[in-house]
Amino acid sequence: MSEWTTVEGDAALPEGGVLPVDLDGLPVILVRHLGCVHAFENRCTHDGSELTGGHIEDGQLVCPHHGARFQLPGGAATCAPAYEPLTPIAARVEGGVIQLKDDRW
Ligand code: FES
Repeated sequence: MSEWTTVEGDAALPEGGVLPVDLDGLPVILVRHLGCVHAFENRCTHDGSELTGGHIEDGQLVCPHHGARFQLPGGAATCAPAYEPLTPIAARVEGGVIQLKDDRW
């Protein structure tokens, strides 16, 4: 079982923020929506490009490349050209830092 890993200070991710981080070599995208931090593998399910540079609109993370949208929380695809959900990564805020745990397996 993996452990929680600190990846960033809580203040680095303001409301509406989208921030790429690294979790032991795994690219992860952090987003803060309605005060909660969510994390996903940083790979759009349309063609695998990173979601870095995306933004939040109407409660969805919008891919910067071709405009696919993913629901927050959860990461379900809501708009073509992506049809598969993002891969969620466990996230929490503890003691002023953002921590992640890779529980994909
Ligand atoms: S790579 Fe995200 S919509 Fe195409």
